[in-house]
Amino acid sequence: MPNAFQKMTDAELDAALADLERQADDLRALDLKLDMARGKPSPEQTALSKPMLDLVTSETDLHDGGSSVDNYGDPDGLPSARALAAELLGVDPANVSVIGSSSLNLMYDCVLNGYVHGIAGCEPWCRQGTVKFLCPAPGYDRHFTVTESFGIENVPVPMREDGPDMDVVRELVEGDPQVKGIWCVPKYANPTGVTYSDEVVRTFAALRPAAPDFRIFWDNAYAVHTFAGEGDSLLNIFDALAEQGGEKNLVYEFASTAKVTFPSSGMAWVTASPADMAELRRAFSAMRVSPEKVSQLAHVKFLKDAAGVAEHMNKHAAVVAPRFALVEEKLEAGLGDLGVASWTHPKGGYFVSFEGPDGSAKAIVALAKELGVTLTGAGAPWPYGRDPRDTNIRIAPTYPSLEELGQALDVFVVAVKLVAARLAKAARA
Ligand SMILES: Cc1ncc(COP(=O)(O)O)c(C=O)c1O
Repeated sequence: MPNAFQKMTDAELDAALADLERQADDLRALDLKLDMARGKPSPEQTALSKPMLDLVTSETDLHDGGSSVDNYGDPDGLPSARALAAELLGVDPANVSVIGSSSLNLMYDCVLNGYVHGIAGCEPWCRQGTVKFLCPAPGYDRHFTVTESFGIENVPVPMREDGPDMDVVRELVEGDPQVKGIWCVPKYANPTGVTYSDEVVRTFAALRPAAPDFRIFWDNAYAVHTFAGEGDSLLNIFDALAEQGGEKNLVYEFASTAKVTFPSSGMAWVTASPADMAELRRAFSAMRVSPEKVSQLAHVKFLKDAAGVAEHMNKHAAVVAPRFALVEEKLEAGLGDLGVASWTHPKGGYFVSFEGPDGSAKAIVALAKELGVTLTGAGAPWPYGRDPRDTNIRIAPTYPSLEELGQALDVFVVAVKLVAARLAKAARA
């Protein structure tokens, strides 16, 4: 279907271009400096967790049941922190290790373990020639950076509205023993906002990998980050595994409080089958004596349990929802009837994924930058930064104030229209 610019006569298109160039000049003159690049909570959101800082003082009893918070011990984290982490993911606390403040760091350590020491008695990946990870794309750029940093081949897999294309995933995982992992963000995926359907989760659980050292890296980063109504629900992948009977050593699941309390100053955790956890614990025990328990104690005192987390996340939702509503409103008003773009309408998470015309994304991001708005680099959500059609842009609306976000979106809309009009013109040359 031709878009509005493609349908115009030559004269109409020239007039539209002149008008858009003028709008761009006016915006350039404002010398804006706005940032929609990364999915960070706004200062209003991080302020919600400041009361946590008053909960651990010199008067606080530094015990957690029989555990000492003020000394070595508890390599898997404080019992109360493990219970909270387990409740949030619906798993057994015995299979949870709460370590460090970054889930990405835990994912890195798990890849490192596969690469250097090997998984389930297999040769380390570094001695198995070219090994591969599947990367549903668009996806989270930092996942892809982890595997790329080891020289592991990142293989893109198409994302659909209910999760990755499972026909492609099954064929590659079950047919190729060099495929050792897949990166997944199963709820409110970064950047599409997609939550995997029950069928997709069950298909993951039913995989029969060609490689015994294949693992699903199930990064449930946005498990509790709903901002619209009831939000989406995600089938627990360990329940899906159990439905099929028997224990399968297939999934490493990760989460953290990065966007619940303070990014990089929270608690992060991993859960897996008992056998996989035993192996990961051996690897982790060479890395540290025990984790940051003072921070864990503060988190448990503040958040308490899953109900406490839900209450706290409602406060985040009140801050975040108007920003996502503004994205919807501005994009719809500016682009809705032009046929040049589509975008996602998530109920949770941190991103809107935007699709412009073929060959437009890099040009839109560059033009927005020229007009004072920094966006995530075009192509970033793809392995090696290679978006095959150069259409995808990740919009991260949480950090700017509502006023700044409105201005940034006005610039973005003009940039999209101008690039679409220039492309229509170039196609006629
Ligand atoms: C999907 C996903 N996983 C992990 C992270 C980082 O989490 P952490 O700060 O716990 O390393 C992010 C941050 O944006 C993310 O989007």
